[in-house]
Amino acid sequence: MKSALVWKVIARCSTTKARVALLTLPHGNVDTPVFMPVGTQGTLKGLTPKQLEELGCQIMLNNTYHLGLRPGQELLEEVGGSHKFQNWNRNLLTDSGGFQMVSLLKLACITEEGVNFQSPHEDGSTMLLTPEHSISLQNSIGADIIMQLDDVVSSLTKGPRVEEATDRSIRWLDRCIAAHKKPDSQNLFAIIQGGLDPDLRRKCVEEMVKRDTPGYAIGGLSGGEEKDIFWRIVTLCTDLLPDHKPIYCMGVGYTEDLIVCSALGIDMFDCVFPTRTARFGNALTSTGTLNLKTSKFSQDFRPIEEDCDCLTCKSFTRAYVHLQSTRETVGCHLITIHNVSYQLRLMRNIRNAIAENRFPQFIQKSFKDLFGGPD
Ligand code: GUN
Ligand code: ZN
Repeated sequence: MKSALVWKVIARCSTTKARVALLTLPHGNVDTPVFMPVGTQGTLKGLTPKQLEELGCQIMLNNTYHLGLRPGQELLEEVGGSHKFQNWNRNLLTDSGGFQMVSLLKLACITEEGVNFQSPHEDGSTMLLTPEHSISLQNSIGADIIMQLDDVVSSLTKGPRVEEATDRSIRWLDRCIAAHKKPDSQNLFAIIQGGLDPDLRRKCVEEMVKRDTPGYAIGGLSGGEEKDIFWRIVTLCTDLLPDHKPIYCMGVGYTEDLIVCSALGIDMFDCVFPTRTARFGNALTSTGTLNLKTSKFSQDFRPIEEDCDCLTCKSFTRAYVHLQSTRETVGCHLITIHNVSYQLRLMRNIRNAIAENRFPQFIQKSFKDLFGGPD
């Protein structure tokens, strides 16, 4: 099918399946492997789009379900889409709303037609999110990459429901492709489902590759399954997917997963984790997480991380961030800036290590720094 992207591999690791590439989208270039911060309601919690741009972020994620409720389709059409609405001139990716089925399960009812949500805003309204409606909303939002509506089950679900969700995701992909009005400016990605079942995953990849979308995502993972199984499913998918298109692993954001999945051939990631955990006072560092709400930091006059060049680390001590984090917004804001910078720097380091053909050594050192072990 038509695509509005160019994806050019620049370097490949000689040991792992990792690759560095330049992804060119309608709103500029994205260096991959990339981590995409999540701005659910049209901005990152605790960060303006301007600040995100200053941090060097090339692509942000928005959520169709949330934007569809507020500001709503009519207003999005009127202002000319989410880039304009947010004053964000770089790339955007919208998730279809499918995933909210898992996270808001009590509020959603799934049929072949689509997903029926009760609004979380207390006005008693409901929204029927069909594949057609999700794509129509995403066409109005105008993101550079849009996602198919998929039937997502928790990765811990077993039995016939997993197969039903897989087959339905394939059928819904066809409806999404048929409904997509802007293939010249928006890239529709398929989402591989299939739970933890290798046969279902294989079937799903096979069917979706036939649809020839501009890129592929792997969904339904990172939901509490064991790492070993998670990484095996990722391996199976990247082995079978075509080598000349970007692959996006959804909902993945822990340092160790970003490193391992890059080695397994993943190019794109997103997760609410770095911004969400910041709001609990957690700062990510290459040697592990610091909870800055704890009083042991009250007299610690070092920056969060010595070699971090973010605004927070350049200007403030752990003691100051600790004091602020016990009083909410400023502290949360400072840690969010650091955590987003940390993720962007981590991905830059991954890309440099791959490009300089020292990725295996980089993996070893990163894991030693993160989890300790013998010197
Ligand atoms: N975000 C994390 N996992 C998923 C998934 O399986 N589907 C969708 N649509 N979004 C996700
Ligand atoms: Zn920092």
